[in-house]
Amino acid sequence: MSLMNTIRENAQKLNKCIVLPEGTEERTLRAASIILDEKLARLILLGNKEEILRKSAEFGLPNIGEATIIEPENNPNQEKYAKMLFELRKSKGLTYEEALKLVQDPLYLATLLIKAGEADGEVAGAMNSTGNVLRPAFQIVKTLPGISVVSGAFIMLLQDNPYIADNILVFADCAVHPDPTAEELAEIAISTAHTARNIAKIEPRVAMLSFSTKGSAKHALVDKVVEATRIAREKAPWINIDGELQADAAIVPAVGSSKAPGSNIAGKANVLVFPSLETGNIAYKLVQRLAGAEAIGPVLQGMAAPINDLSRGCSVSDIVNLVAITANQSA
Ligand code: ACO
Repeated sequence: MSLMNTIRENAQKLNKCIVLPEGTEERTLRAASIILDEKLARLILLGNKEEILRKSAEFGLPNIGEATIIEPENNPNQEKYAKMLFELRKSKGLTYEEALKLVQDPLYLATLLIKAGEADGEVAGAMNSTGNVLRPAFQIVKTLPGISVVSGAFIMLLQDNPYIADNILVFADCAVHPDPTAEELAEIAISTAHTARNIAKIEPRVAMLSFSTKGSAKHALVDKVVEATRIAREKAPWINIDGELQADAAIVPAVGSSKAPGSNIAGKANVLVFPSLETGNIAYKLVQRLAGAEAIGPVLQGMAAPINDLSRGCSVSDIVNLVAITANQSA
């Protein structure tokens, strides 16, 4: 069975509640209809109820009525969420009046529904920028204990690759945190190992990538990766991890054994942790375009509840898949 089918099947078993804040958007409505039809999740759609139902009728999606619809601008529970938001953000200078306005923003309301335990996860971004989706998530849902940075992984599905046994690699951070410290890079490695195990269904062998292998180059950027590897080992001894490794030493057995003899990861890595967002983002796009890999993600990791960001160019099936992934993450 393909990985995505396994993820969808598991989502059906989990029966989680996912909030879609862009409830009036056409691709979101079409995806919602498929999600409800296939019972991948229970759904909360945010938006004007009359508009949601009118568009559903127009697009021939009669089952949208099975979703819970909440109107952020006309919500009888506005004060409850405003109080919650005010309590969470007053130390940052937010006033109650500002909170009352913010809870009418679907992206804020979605994260407050999660915080209140009324939804398990969120998928948004078909109409909103990454920053606008992530900011309320960072402010309200925050990170998991022991993790201070959210990052974004891609599951790269390769085709008949000579180096990667089951044709699956997990890359991070490709989406969120521009310039991690050594401590943050270690956290990204730990989060990515969890994503590899729980979502990509592979036993993680983590390579901390650099332009140097085991001291072949001397530079502060290399030192950062060495330190991140040390911290990750200390914080999560269960993870099979090594670094610093160059990309070829990480995945090509002959290069790994010659450049990093004795390493239990070199030549066998299936999780690649990049030293910066620039390198991770560029690498995933090159592998996707030049090697024809299917890139599933970004799967956001490290958040206290799963919130995932779509690309604005997403398709209906991208939304369906990301909802299924989000449901799996909230397990
Ligand atoms: N993890 C957890 N919390 C974070 C993170 C993070 N990675 N980054 C910021 N925060 C928190 C801050 O601590 C702060 O919390 P506080 O208000 O409680 O103190 C809050 O979020 C806002 O922090 P800012 O520094 O003001 O963050 P800002 O909102 O300016 O930026 C953002 C966050 C938008 C995610 C920024 O890091 C960004 O633009 N990243 C790049 C995203 C991007 O463009 N990715 C590439 C495209 S995606 C793709 O190609 C698949």
